[in-house]
Amino acid sequence: MRTTFKLRVERACGGRAMVLEFRRYRDGDEVGIVETMNSAFETFRQWGLTSDIWLELTRRDYGFRRDLALVAEEDGKIVGHVQLVLRKLRYGCAVFTTGGIANVSTRPEHRGRGIATRLMSLAVETCREEGIPISSLWTGFLSPAHHIYRKLGYVDTFSPYSFGAHFLEVKEALKLLGGNGVEVRELQSADLDEIRKIYALFTEGWIGPGVRDAEYVRNKFTDKQFYHTFFYDEPENFVRLVSVDGGKVTGYVIAAFGGKLSRRYGDPYAGSVLEAIALDEKSLRCLMHSALQELLEAGAKKVWVNAPDIPLYRRLLPEFRKVGGQGTYMDKIIDLPALLEQVKSELERRLIERGVSVSTSIKLAVDSGSAVLKIEDDSITVSREGSSPSYISLSDRNFLKMFYGVESFEELLQRRAVRSLKLASGMELEILSTLFPKNLFYVW
Ligand SMILES: CC(C)(COP(=O)(O)OP(=O)(O)OC[C@H]1O[C@@H](n2cnc3c(N)ncnc32)[C@H](O)[C@@H]1OP(=O)(O)O)[C@@H](O)C(=O)NCCC(=O)NCCS
Repeated sequence: MRTTFKLRVERACGGRAMVLEFRRYRDGDEVGIVETMNSAFETFRQWGLTSDIWLELTRRDYGFRRDLALVAEEDGKIVGHVQLVLRKLRYGCAVFTTGGIANVSTRPEHRGRGIATRLMSLAVETCREEGIPISSLWTGFLSPAHHIYRKLGYVDTFSPYSFGAHFLEVKEALKLLGGNGVEVRELQSADLDEIRKIYALFTEGWIGPGVRDAEYVRNKFTDKQFYHTFFYDEPENFVRLVSVDGGKVTGYVIAAFGGKLSRRYGDPYAGSVLEAIALDEKSLRCLMHSALQELLEAGAKKVWVNAPDIPLYRRLLPEFRKVGGQGTYMDKIIDLPALLEQVKSELERRLIERGVSVSTSIKLAVDSGSAVLKIEDDSITVSREGSSPSYISLSDRNFLKMFYGVESFEELLQRRAVRSLKLASGMELEILSTLFPKNLFYVW
């Protein structure tokens, strides 16, 4: 396994050539990593990130591993850092692993020397070494970092959004929410297993939600309430409620008011509903009502709600506006056959559900590689090599949109986004439509 590469930099310093080394984490690196992150991100500085907190996250989060922390070191000093975070994401009934990219940072005085670009190349190489078939990240659209990711083959697949309202609209929303028959009470540790199951049931069939096992939920919801990567606060500073109907927990909400958090993060005037999930609409109405009311009582001047754009939330929050912001979700395909292999059970489920049962094969070619899907009745074999009478070629970006269900195969075809298509018969057209329908893609 190659985990390090050295680069001799021309730049002379005090009469000697400086050596830049790009490598994985070594014991003690957390000090330089956190210094580099704090030099690059105001959010981390304001919140108060320390190397102890960094180490703590490596114990609390299965995907945040020390050996996946990549550094650029010059003359014994860490000057750049990228963290690879493994995330298991749902793909209908299947699960795939993505290599999430986080904390991309170069100390200000070392910028413009290709450090972040090389660290990102190392991140891609590390994904390959670890057998991770795809890499994903969030960033600002057209930001300097966006340019680096584009250069390395990451493409924009999804535009993130949330729902926002001024508190006057939130007051209007409160009139429509609430209801009888559902008790809303504080979340307790004993509820954690139930809310984990509710999350899994609610997001069933979706593409993108993170897979949360009991340990993950315990680590992120108990003595500290985590809300975004490292960021956490004391649980009592959050609105943490569950709904109870007929003696059973039916849903939960986690919300925060920036002004009440003990560590500074984000807008101190804003309230955020981070997750509001319930198994029925009545419970969700009551939870949303209680959470919004608590945020207003705490002094929120505005409220953001993180939720997918589905009719349920639209009905609940008609006064809220969907705002796209300047962010973008990007992916890079590392290994197409391996990616398709991981989601094969969901693709097979789609064929079974639609009653498609044939013997054929289709070659799928994208910018970053190709794969052959051999379909025998309703079972699929994915192979790297081989020819096929049916062939579809797409850009990585359009393939990923189709893969996630952001656009269906048919929609891509209609807007001429399919580069080339050669089908042995009409049956392959039906198979592609069945394998790649429009779907709900949402990364919570
Ligand atoms: C983004 C960041 C990591 C880049 O680090 P770096 O080591 O200077 O990056 P590199 O030298 O490898 O590459 C910089 C590239 O961005 C380009 N660039 C610089 N400013 C730019 C801008 N405003 N818009 C577009 N591209 C820009 C450079 O021209 C260069 O591209 P090139 O190699 O094609 O000429 C660094 O600026 C940083 O730490 N920023 C703050 C933290 C941050 O925003 N992280 C990303 C979060 S997703």
